[in-house]
Amino acid sequence: MKLFDVYPLNNITITRADGSYVWDDQGNQYLDMYGGHAVISIGHTHPHWVQRIEDQLKQIAFYSNSVIIPLQQQLAEKLGKLSGKIDYELFLCNSGAEANENALKLASFHTGRKKIIAFKKSFHGRTSLAVAATDNPPIVAPVNETDNIVFLPFNDTASLQEYFEQHGETIAAVITEGIQGVGGINVAADDFLQTIRQLCNQYGAVFIADSVQCGYGRTGKFFAHDHAGVDADIYSMAKGMGNGFPIGGILIAPHIRPKHGMLGTTFGGNHLACAAALAVLEIMEQEDLMQKAAVNGAYMMEQLKTIPEIQNVRGRGWMIGFDVPDTIKELKKVLLSEYKTFTGEAKPNVIRLLPSLALDKNQANDFLYRLREAIQFIQTANPSS
Ligand SMILES: Cc1ncc(COP(=O)(O)O)c(C=O)c1O
Repeated sequence: MKLFDVYPLNNITITRADGSYVWDDQGNQYLDMYGGHAVISIGHTHPHWVQRIEDQLKQIAFYSNSVIIPLQQQLAEKLGKLSGKIDYELFLCNSGAEANENALKLASFHTGRKKIIAFKKSFHGRTSLAVAATDNPPIVAPVNETDNIVFLPFNDTASLQEYFEQHGETIAAVITEGIQGVGGINVAADDFLQTIRQLCNQYGAVFIADSVQCGYGRTGKFFAHDHAGVDADIYSMAKGMGNGFPIGGILIAPHIRPKHGMLGTTFGGNHLACAAALAVLEIMEQEDLMQKAAVNGAYMMEQLKTIPEIQNVRGRGWMIGFDVPDTIKELKKVLLSEYKTFTGEAKPNVIRLLPSLALDKNQANDFLYRLREAIQFIQTANPSS
C-alpha cells in the first residue's frame, strides 16, 4: 500500500532530535528554526517531558471521559495560572482544527446564531467549519461551503464596524488569529482586536482568539491577543501545547455555560496527552520560556532588520516573518540543503521562523550566520541578480 500523496516532501528522514537540533538518517545535524511547524515549544525530547510521558505510560495511557481524570484538572489549573485566565474553563481535544471547530460550534450554541466573521488570509484548520472559516478556496471542499461565514479585510476596523452595524444581531462569533501564521505573519493591530472586543460586547457575539499557532507563549505573552490588552471569550490552542504530543483545547470564559453532551470526544484529554501538556507548562514556568521568547525573538528581529537583502521583517517573540525578494527566491531551499537549517514558509515569498521558545541567543546568532552565508551563496551563484 502507498501513502496518500498530499504532502510535498523534502527528501530528508529525521531520526533523532534534541533541543533545537534534529538529525537525519545520514548523521547530518540541522538547526530547527521551524519547530516542526510551530509545534516544538520547550525543545525536542526535553528530558522532563520524556520522563513524565514515560512515567504516565507505565501507570495508564488512556481511559475515556466517562471517569474522573485528575490530570485534566491539574492541567486546567496550571493553564489558568500561566495564561492568567484563571476563571476560564477548559475543554480538551486533539488538534487545532478540532479546537476551532468546537469554539465555533460553542459560539453558535451560546448565541443561537449562525453567522461567523473571519478574515482574509486566515487559516483555522481543515475540519468542516474550521476550513469554511479559512480563506483558501482550494482546500475548501464543496460540502464545506457555507453562507454562514463572511470574510472581511484583516486589520480593517471600519469594515468590521460597518458589517456589525448592518448584521450585528445575526453574528455568532468573530474568529481571528493574533498573528496570522499560514497567511504570512500578519500581526493583528491592537486597535483592531480592541474593536472586535467592543463590537462583540455591544452585539452579544463571541470573540474567538485562534491561538493555535500564535499562542502558548510563542509571542512572549501566553496569548498573542494579550498584547492588545483584551480578553477573548474563547481561546483555541494546540501545536505547542504538547510539544509534539497531539493535544488541543479551548479556554472558555465563565459566562459561556456548558451542558452535558454539548461537546465531546473519545481521545481528548487522555492521561498521556495531559501528562505531556503538564510537562510543557512545568518547563515553560521553570525555564521562564515566555520571557526568553520575548527577549531572544526581539533580538532576532532587530538583527534581521540589518540584513538589506530581506524585507518587511515582522512578528513578535518567536513568531517572525520576512519577505524574500525574487533575486534570492531559493533562500529557503538553500538554507536547508547547504546550511542544514529548517525554516517555515508562507506562499508566495515569506520565510517564517517558528523555533522552540528555548532557542537561545547563541543559536539565534548561529542562524543569522547561516542566513547571511546562504544569501551570499545565492548571490555568488547568480552574480547578475
Ligand atoms: C492558526 C491555526 N489554526 C488552526 C490550525 C489547525 O491546526 P491542526 O493542524 O492541529 O488541525 C493551524 C495549523 O497550522 C493554525 O496555524
